[in-house]
Amino acid sequence: MEVIILPTPDEVGRVAAAKIAAVVRKKPSAVIGLATGSSPRGIYADLRRRVEAGEVSFAEAHGFALDEYIGIPLEHPESYASVIDRDVVKPLGFASDRVHVPNGRAAIPAVAANEYDTAIRLAGGVDVQVLGIGTNGHIGFNEPTSSFASRTRIKTLAPSTREANARFFDSIDDVPTHCMTQGLGTILEAGMLLLVAQGSLKADAVAAAVEGPLSSFVPGSALQLHEHAIVVVDEAAAADLQLSSYYRSTYENKPEWQHVA
Ligand code: GLP
Repeated sequence: MEVIILPTPDEVGRVAAAKIAAVVRKKPSAVIGLATGSSPRGIYADLRRRVEAGEVSFAEAHGFALDEYIGIPLEHPESYASVIDRDVVKPLGFASDRVHVPNGRAAIPAVAANEYDTAIRLAGGVDVQVLGIGTNGHIGFNEPTSSFASRTRIKTLAPSTREANARFFDSIDDVPTHCMTQGLGTILEAGMLLLVAQGSLKADAVAAAVEGPLSSFVPGSALQLHEHAIVVVDEAAAADLQLSSYYRSTYENKPEWQHVA
């Protein structure tokens, strides 16, 4: 795992965006795993700047969102289908028919979840998966105790997740109780995992995911099983890391030949 500690949230977005842009320049039809939430917003803003500057194009790229709520209509402004369309598809110029979000409105959600997992495989797999992390260590909506072998499926949201996401709704009662999320096993099949976190509220979860024991109680620790996981954090989110000086000096002195992406 590579851990990159940067001074500001803007730098986190810029450095993570540069990695995605490099993947897409090399493979214009790359499959990007898309995360919602506030953490990746800086990435999408920086990618938009790069698209407008003609540095990269997502016109041929594909996208698969990590997760979706169950129980809110497609056109709800906080459905992840709406968020992905607003924050990613339109600003970055993805072709909307190449971007997929789990169908939280399916008559038989378990079937839709299986089909989503299969669709990712049929698309050739995710090349780079963008991830945030919840304060309870979740990635996607894989709440604590999610199996490392899990596939796309229905989950019940943890109370702390519903509280954290209440800011996007009128009241906590409006936050859905269930979701459909790519599983940890699904996420681990991506070619590269790119997790970003900013702010002191994420410090515990980042330290537990990066340096703690491998545990389904901290779903983010699944990154330790991946051969190409990159964690990009600002100073505040890095505050609880024990080996921060090692990560800093490794990044600052990284020779050109050590760059794999
Ligand atoms: C959300 C999403 C996750 C996200 C996490 C952190 O509920 N399902 O994909 O990474 O929780 O959210 P934020 O980035 O807003 O802190």
